[in-house]
Amino acid sequence: MKVLITGGSGLLGQYLNIFLSKKFEILSLYLNNSGNCIEYNSKKVDICNYRKIFDVISSFKPQIIVHTAAYSKPEIVEKLSFYDVYKINVEATKYLAELSELNNAKIIFTSTDLVYDGVQGSMIPESGKINPISVYAKTKFLAEQIIRKTTDNYIILRTSLLYGLALNNTSNYFTYIFNNLQSGKPVRLFYDQYRTPLSLINASILIEDLILKDVKSETINFGGLQRVSRLELAQILCNVGGFDKSLLEKISMDDVPEVIKVPDVSLDTKKLQAYTSLQKTIEESIEEIIKYGKN
Ligand SMILES: NC(=O)c1ccc[n+]([C@@H]2O[C@H](COP(=O)([O-])OP(=O)(O)OC[C@H]3O[C@@H](n4cnc5c(N)ncnc54)[C@H](OP(=O)(O)O)[C@@H]3O)[C@@H](O)[C@H]2O)c1
Repeated sequence: MKVLITGGSGLLGQYLNIFLSKKFEILSLYLNNSGNCIEYNSKKVDICNYRKIFDVISSFKPQIIVHTAAYSKPEIVEKLSFYDVYKINVEATKYLAELSELNNAKIIFTSTDLVYDGVQGSMIPESGKINPISVYAKTKFLAEQIIRKTTDNYIILRTSLLYGLALNNTSNYFTYIFNNLQSGKPVRLFYDQYRTPLSLINASILIEDLILKDVKSETINFGGLQRVSRLELAQILCNVGGFDKSLLEKISMDDVPEVIKVPDVSLDTKKLQAYTSLQKTIEESIEEIIKYGKN
């Protein structure tokens, strides 16, 4: 099976390159950074260049398009022009959905847990109230709606916080925590923002499984099994990795003014579990991350 990956140089994209290439023939797209794409079949393409995207899809003929390319960092997105974000997060997604439909391919789109408002309680099901408060989440929800209108052959993954070691040009908070703890430096962590984080390795394996199971026409909460704050996630990292817990400094979201305040977007992932049994616990995932990092 042929799988086209957009955002192949991103945090998730580079893990998808590693895992999806084991089972499928992949073509991975990047723009400014090549990351590990150069180790795989890859191309430098701006997803807003519709002529080029059309050519790439017409010649590669993928059965699956895993669309992860985006302006993905909510706090950065708030500082950009709405149109610039819309062009990538919504317009380019619309075009990719149209091309998927035209080419009988499935589009798998990484949306976000932040489409929920974060104040309706814990473990929100897919039927929960949609109320994105950031520009980032608003554009992701617009893209979801367009995909559902354009094609039946889609999987929309409302993705939770992704953790694991960031490869090459990419970054995430978990890697910052991990590096600090490893070198004995303190880290400041929110105790009052809850998610159901999912490891990058587990996310890639779950996407592979959803492809193999030919899931379609589904919007799925894509998170881990446990509801935790970043502080609790780091405490588990200390337990599993043998790091010093006294380096963890507890802070509130309110201590960092620029942070978008979303107290609880933990996800009910029963729908995901109905399709796959490959979700792992945080403890299992961290063991895997540490083992993977050593190899
Ligand atoms: N990370 C998380 O915790 C998280 C949580 C929920 C949802 N998500 C969603 O999951 C997806 C992956 O997130 P991520 O953290 O892996 O993102 P990321 O590290 O910021 O990567 C973004 C990717 O998009 C590519 N890109 C951006 N603009 C492009 C353009 N015009 N043409 C072609 N490529 C372009 C970048 O390419 P270059 O670097 O080569 O320029 C990069 O590969 C995103 O859709 C994000 O919204 C992520």
